[in-house]
Order: sequence, then C-alpha cells, then structure tokens
Amino acid sequence: MKPKFYITTAIPYVNALPHLGHSYEMVVTDVIARYKRLAGYDVWFLTGLDENSQNCERKARELGKDPQEYVDEMAAAISSTWQALGISNDDFLRTTQPRHKEAAREFFQRAFDNGDIYKNTYDGYYCTSCEAFYEEDDLVNGSECPTHETECEWLSEENFFFSLSKYEKPLLDFHREHPEFVQPASRRNEVMAFIERGLRDFSISRTTIKWGIPTPVDEEHVIYVWFDALINYLTGVGFPADDAMYEKYWPADVHVIGKDIWRFHCIYWPAMLMSAGLPLPGKVCVHGFLTLRGEKMSKSRGIYVDPVQAVDQFGADAIRYFLVRDMPFGQDGDFSWASFVARYNADLANDLGNMLNRTLNLVKQHFDGRTPALGDLTDEDRALVEAAEAARDEYVSLMDDYAVHSGLDQALGLVRTANKYMADTQPWKVAKSGDKTRAGTILYCAMEAVRWAAVMVTPAIPTGAAGIHRQLGIADPDGQDFSTLSWGGLAADAPLGDVAPLFPRLEVTEEDDEEATASEADEAGGEPAAEAAVEDAFITFDDFMKVDLRTAEVLEAEAVPKADKLLKLTIQVGDERRTIVAGVAQHYTPEEMVGKRIAVVANLKPRKVFGIESQGMLLAGNAEDGSLVLAEFSKDIPSGSRVS
Ligand code: MSP
Repeated sequence: MKPKFYITTAIPYVNALPHLGHSYEMVVTDVIARYKRLAGYDVWFLTGLDENSQNCERKARELGKDPQEYVDEMAAAISSTWQALGISNDDFLRTTQPRHKEAAREFFQRAFDNGDIYKNTYDGYYCTSCEAFYEEDDLVNGSECPTHETECEWLSEENFFFSLSKYEKPLLDFHREHPEFVQPASRRNEVMAFIERGLRDFSISRTTIKWGIPTPVDEEHVIYVWFDALINYLTGVGFPADDAMYEKYWPADVHVIGKDIWRFHCIYWPAMLMSAGLPLPGKVCVHGFLTLRGEKMSKSRGIYVDPVQAVDQFGADAIRYFLVRDMPFGQDGDFSWASFVARYNADLANDLGNMLNRTLNLVKQHFDGRTPALGDLTDEDRALVEAAEAARDEYVSLMDDYAVHSGLDQALGLVRTANKYMADTQPWKVAKSGDKTRAGTILYCAMEAVRWAAVMVTPAIPTGAAGIHRQLGIADPDGQDFSTLSWGGLAADAPLGDVAPLFPRLEVTEEDDEEATASEADEAGGEPAAEAAVEDAFITFDDFMKVDLRTAEVLEAEAVPKADKLLKLTIQVGDERRTIVAGVAQHYTPEEMVGKRIAVVANLKPRKVFGIESQGMLLAGNAEDGSLVLAEFSKDIPSGSRVS
C-alpha cells in the first residue's frame, strides 16, 4: 500500500480575486504535492476558500448582491485561476458548504464539552481585514491595524471564549518535543517566544453578525471566522462523517501557509486540536511574501500582477517555474518582469530547451530520428551518469525537506553538466568522423540526462516536462516518475516525437510590437498591464496634468486580424481623426462601439500594434466578473473636450 501524504494550503478570503502572491502559495504546494505523487505517495491535496468572513458579506452588500450568490461567483472565478495555473488539488473546500458547517459545529461542541469554551464579554479592537483581535499595544497611529493601517473597530459584546491560556504549557511541551513542527526554524523561535510571553483566551463567536456558522450551543452566536476556517483541514478529509477517509489521511502532513498567519496555525490550531482530543498535524511550513519590485502586493492599491493575465501571456509553466525557482521557500521574494524573463531565458530557454533541441537535432541528422543504442561507457560518460545520480539523490532529499527552489537547482545543474558534456565530447564531430557507435552512445547519454532532468522538473513544469518526454519519443510522456530513473531506461531505436523548440526565448523590449501586444491591449483598457501595475500609489498634480485626457467619439470599429482581443477604432477627437487599437474585442462588438462617446489619453506616444499605428488609448474599468466597461459620460459633451 502506498504511504499517505496529506497537504493543505491556507484558504484565501473570497472578497478579491487572487494576485500572484496568493498564487505563490498554491504553486509551491502544488509542486510538493506533485513531487510526492511522483515519489509514490497516495497524496490528498486540499485547498479551498474562507467564505464566512465579515468582509465578504460587506462586499456582497456593497455590490447589492446576496452574500451566497456573491461567494458562489467568486469561488468559480478563483477556482478557474487555480486551473489556469495547473493546480492539481484533489478537493476544493468552501466553508459555506454543509459538510463544513457540520464539521465546525461538531468541533466546537467537542471543545465545549471539554470545558474549554465559556461566555464572557469582549471589549477590544478588531480588524475586519485581518479578521483578528488586537491588543491596544499592537495598534499603530492610535487605533489602526498594524498590518492594514486602517481603523480597527471597537467591539463590546458577549462572546464565547476559547481557553487558550490553559494550553500554554502543553503547547510549549509540544513545540519542544517537535522542533520539526514549524519550518523554517527561525519562525519556530518566534512561536516559542510568543507562547513564553503568555497566552490569553480569545473570543471565538460574534452576535452582531449573522453571516457564518451558528455555534451548536447557542444559535444566536456565529463562530469566529478563524476558528471556523482552521477546521477546514479536518472537513477536507471527511471529519466527522467519513471515518475511513479521516482515518486514512488525518493528521495532515503539512500545512503550507504565509508568514502573516503563523500565530493561528502554530498556536491556536494545535491548542484547538488538543482541546477536541484530535491528533496534531506533522508540520507547518511558513513561506515568505512575494513583493512586486519591492512593494507589498495589494489589489486595492493597484500593486499586483494578475496570475490569469500572466498565464495568458507566458503559459502556466513559465510562471510556475519562476515562482518556485526564484523564491527560496521560507524567504521573501520579489517579482519583476525583468527577473522573470531573465530566469526563464537562462534556465528554460538556454539550458533545458537548448540542450533538448540540440541533442534531438543531432539524433535526427545522424540517426534518422531514432534513439541511438547505448554502447560502452567511457570515463566522460560515467562522470555524467554519476552527476545524474548525485543530482537525483540530492533533489529527492531537498524536495523531502520542501526546499523546492534548491531541488530545481539540482535538476538544472544536471542540464548544465549535460550541456558541458556535449561541448566536451562533440558528438557532431564524432559522427562526421564515421564512429557511429561512439556518437550514438554520447547522444544516448545526453538524451538520458535530459530525460532525468525532465522527471525532476515535472512537479514545477508538468506541461513542459511531458513535452520533453514526448519529443524524446517516450511512449507514456505523462507517466514518468522516479521509478523510471535508472540509466539506460530510454528505449533504443524508438522514433523521436516531433522535435521543436519547447521554451522559445522571450525578448521583451519596448520596440517589440509582437511582445508588447498583450500589454498594449491591456493598457488599452483591460486589467492593468503587468508593468503598468507597478506604480507608486501617488503621483503629483503636475504628473497628472501631463496626461492629456480627452473626450472622443467612435466613428468606425473593426476587428484586427489574428488578434482576438483587439479592435481598430477610428475616433473623432475635436477636429482630429485618429486611429486607436483597443483591447476591448472580447467585451464589445464593433457595432456596439460605433457612436460611443469615450475618454482617451490623447498624448500617448503612438505605437504600432499588429502593424497598425495606435494614436491613443481609451479608458475602461473592470467589472467584478472580469469584463471591461468603457468609461463614458452621463451627458453629451463635445468630442475633444479636456477631461480633468
Ligand atoms: N483566510 C485566511 C487563511 C485561513 S487558513 C485556515 C487568509 N486568507 S488570505 O487570502 O489573506 O491569504 C491566503 C494565503 O495567501 C495566506 O497564507 C497568505 O499568507 C498568503 N499570501 C497573501 N499575500 C501573499 C504574498 N504577497 N505572497 C505570498 N503569499 C501571500 O489569511
């Protein structure tokens, strides 16, 4: 029987679509889950959504929607973001589902029956964005939340409290006995210090809100969103109804979470489980934060990268690879398009893609496109075999420690060694000299090294890795795992697949129209383009006055051939007629555009988009469902009027 491995992510709130920072957590967890599957584990990978938050209810009301309808819409959009990124979760749990309601109430009841839940009056500060209570000492600028710097609410109400203080000693004992529980070790020190400072009981219910799960002991109270959310990890493996599932997978092997929520996972959660008499998870892996050119990502401040847009432009593999390769697990990382392109080009285009392509082209040229036979090994070949074995072993031990970035470095290290092996052994010369047997052995070894590296990168870039296996002519390109890694596993005389560059180099330059198209389309009104999203929160008035915003009327509109997002518009701006190319084709038909009075940036430097000179950019906003809505005027004003 396969050993089990149960891994979870934190469950995001649903009041905004995820940015690339949230995606990091999903991708790194997915890479671990996929690695464990390759290594022969029976994996259960759970993610889901934290839907019982007060913010979520507020947002729904602001939009004039029923909260359940709102969370249903957001859940569909968030889940499709994860699909776009190739996340292989086995379940998608939503805390508004009946199965979770049952689990949360059962859990509450058990802690209550154990004497750990009591009623008291809560007086204190609460941040609805964090969904957390704060002590006065924690606040900044008087009564603001230290994380969001927004005003905290003063709450005074009768709540149920959880006796966290009772678990101070058991928690300290537990963390001392299980130094491996919190990873990285630096976080563990923080956890220990926090407990040693003394733990206070915390409020776990609210009476002033109705959105949430009523407690089983008093239906007037709904369960505090964090108490409810943590229990999702149990619901996801059948607690309390499905004993077989629960017995098989609980306790979780790893909870993957971000650095802002360790207090909940390393202190509250273990104490809650102790109270309910349930086994504790094996490990909490705390990752760092992804910033955007050094700034905290924030959708509300417009500082973020949209994962769906990034995947549309560059493919899931490229984005996944950057996230897990560039950001050491546990530390913070920074995203910029320049570092993304540099990493992609160096590792995937130059090293891996090039190694595959040059090797297979030589096989096509000298061996009729069929895998050559492996002859006697020379010392050089043996050194390559040893490097491959060492890389594999090191990779396994790093991945078992969740050092995903270093694991991938081993895989790419093997590729670099193989590239050097090719340069040293020069199979093209050997083939020309007539020694086919030797040339065949070299090329076989080179193919074998790429095959091994491809298995190792499979968890990070599953599509690309299957593509490599397909080009190598492997019959089961999706089914390659560690059991296949013994030298000589590649079948000789098998025909190669279609040989083509898998990771073409990215050239992102300002002059490059083709590359600029996606962002041009977006600048023209879609989601903020990746680069454009990196903006300071403020500009000066003078900066603003530099932008010449004008009203315009759309005279003609037509589709742009081979660009499904773009429309070519002829617009009247005062006395002037202009052409602009706008990324609105998926939201407006040409007929709908004609006659519209719109706002445009009139002094934008003209740029060529799909061969058409675009002399401006129109303004549009994003609706909640992701569709684009043109900025229009409520009354007719002459075209060419200044907008300010
Ligand atoms: N709903 C809670 C989690 C409950 S788990 C029982 C929550 N949600 S969240 O939407 O704010 O965050 C979800 C996860 O994304 C958290 O682990 C958080 O640390 C992580 N991240 C949020 N911003 C991030 C980055 N910029 N970079 C990396 N991870 C980030 O907290």
